Amino acid sequence: MKLAAGNWKMNGLGSNLGEVQRLIAAIGDPKCQVLICPPATLIDRMSILALDTPLHVGGQDCHAKTSGAHTGDVSAAMLANAGASYVIVGHSERRADHGETDAIVLAKTQAVLAEGLIAIVCVGETEAQRDAGDTLAVVGAQLAGSLPNGCTADTVVVAYEPVWAIGTGRTPTLEQIAEVHAFMRAELAARFGGAPMTLLYGGSVKPSNAEEIFALPNVDGALVGGAALKAADFAPIVAALSATV
Ligand code: 13P
Repeated sequence: MKLAAGNWKMNGLGSNLGEVQRLIAAIGDPKCQVLICPPATLIDRMSILALDTPLHVGGQDCHAKTSGAHTGDVSAAMLANAGASYVIVGHSERRADHGETDAIVLAKTQAVLAEGLIAIVCVGETEAQRDAGDTLAVVGAQLAGSLPNGCTADTVVVAYEPVWAIGTGRTPTLEQIAEVHAFMRAELAARFGGAPMTLLYGGSVKPSNAEEIFALPNVDGALVGGAALKAADFAPIVAALSATV
């Protein structure tokens, strides 16, 4: 499965939902999956707009528990109830801002799977880790620690997002992306077997670089931040991915 996923992060008010209507009009009938993960406050409204269209709606995070005394948190069950079909877990901004460890990400992934939603599990090295030559070791450890047993291509998507490439306009070289994706493919195949999982690249993806990134082996789509906020930027990224199917 190929997937063009947009992560709106902490951006978006009701007044921005017009972008979603423009996006739906612009993507037509794509050959890939298309997803927007808005702030939790917009999932319900965006899901109504996306009814009977190719657009899927997802959450950006969830709590590991289904309900309870966790002020301010949102559970996977609540996201599903609001209309989400995917949930991003372990984004580097969650890992950095909220101290999320691999063990926490694993528990959240289990919570997403328990609700029958698809988990998009994020991994990626910092600039210091890359400079130290630790990229594959870091990504390997995150994969090992963040994914529960029993993951399949139907339930889990993995996103490689180098922390230093997020929101910076800097992207790894195509060789660097291909190297990490080949490594992830091999690690996941060795542990889980079965059909190959969808592997996304994320970090400063934009219309001008999407085509060359999507042409790489083992890249099955993108997790897009800034360029997913505007239909005029995200629709060409969707089209570039759809053209590879
Ligand atoms: P940018 O596309 O803005 O670099 O963000 C990437 C990202 O973090 C998506 O989850």
